[in-house]
Amino acid sequence: MPVISHPASTAISLPPFRFPPSLSTGDIKLRIVVLDTPDLVTQFAADMVCELVKERAREKIEVVLGLATGGTPLGLYRELIARHQRGGVSFREVDTFNLDEYVGLPPDSPQSYHYYMLENLFKHIDIDLERTHVPETWNVDLDESAHDFEMNIELAGGIDLQILGIGTDAHIGFNEIGSSLGSRTRVKTLTRKTRADNARYFASPDEVPRMALTMGIATILESQSILLLATGESKATAIRNCVEGPITSSVPASALQLHPNVTLALDSAAASGLANLDYFLESERNRAATTRSS
Ligand code: F6R
Repeated sequence: MPVISHPASTAISLPPFRFPPSLSTGDIKLRIVVLDTPDLVTQFAADMVCELVKERAREKIEVVLGLATGGTPLGLYRELIARHQRGGVSFREVDTFNLDEYVGLPPDSPQSYHYYMLENLFKHIDIDLERTHVPETWNVDLDESAHDFEMNIELAGGIDLQILGIGTDAHIGFNEIGSSLGSRTRVKTLTRKTRADNARYFASPDEVPRMALTMGIATILESQSILLLATGESKATAIRNCVEGPITSSVPASALQLHPNVTLALDSAAASGLANLDYFLESERNRAATTRSS
């Protein structure tokens, strides 16, 4: 077989993709939770995060959270800060890995995701900043940075709970349409749609960076559990395609159908495009009844 030599930056070997161990437990689910308002989605997500963090604290085991930025998780972060300040939860033993960071923005730029995380969560809680990881994209070799990011997730023992938002085009992280379902952390070019959607955070649409370093889809799928949050009608089509469409790289979020432990927490507007909405609502009612009677 001919030996193909690659430039040093692409010769880095990454671990092969594998599903998280929970796949072998038989506890496989894609759970759809529909709540009336965005605030209820926030409370649901905060309960899930805090329960995990507190359970691990009781067991004296560290916990690794995967975090997202954007508008959707802002309520969750506000709620985590509030619960921490009321003394209800400590993040001292938590490691975090963020999904993505723009290429071309210094970390102290107000539009960078480093800045977003510091301002909207990290500086208000007792987390050790050394244990927080947002992909490094400023003054670094991007391939090496992507490799180090993956390795740091490995070293931390993998992500226990990954929080996701979803783009209007169904991207997760910045895995845009066409992203390989086996992809790992790497640089991606942002679509015009994503840049237009995110222009609200910049002085002009031209200032939105054209590229980002993002966790890959395989990286996301290796998390032990995933919680995707979506609110508002603008996400309804993406949610329908994610849940009820075929698994395809044209709908990056559809890869979540392959994962053994995914919860989608949706407000009724984001769930409004689901053809099988009644079925999902009934499933949740039955789940609640089963939980009560057990
Ligand atoms: C952000 C991220 C993106 C966003 C998505 C939705 O870290 O990974 O996938 O989750 O673009 O953004 P919002 O919540 O602003 O609609």
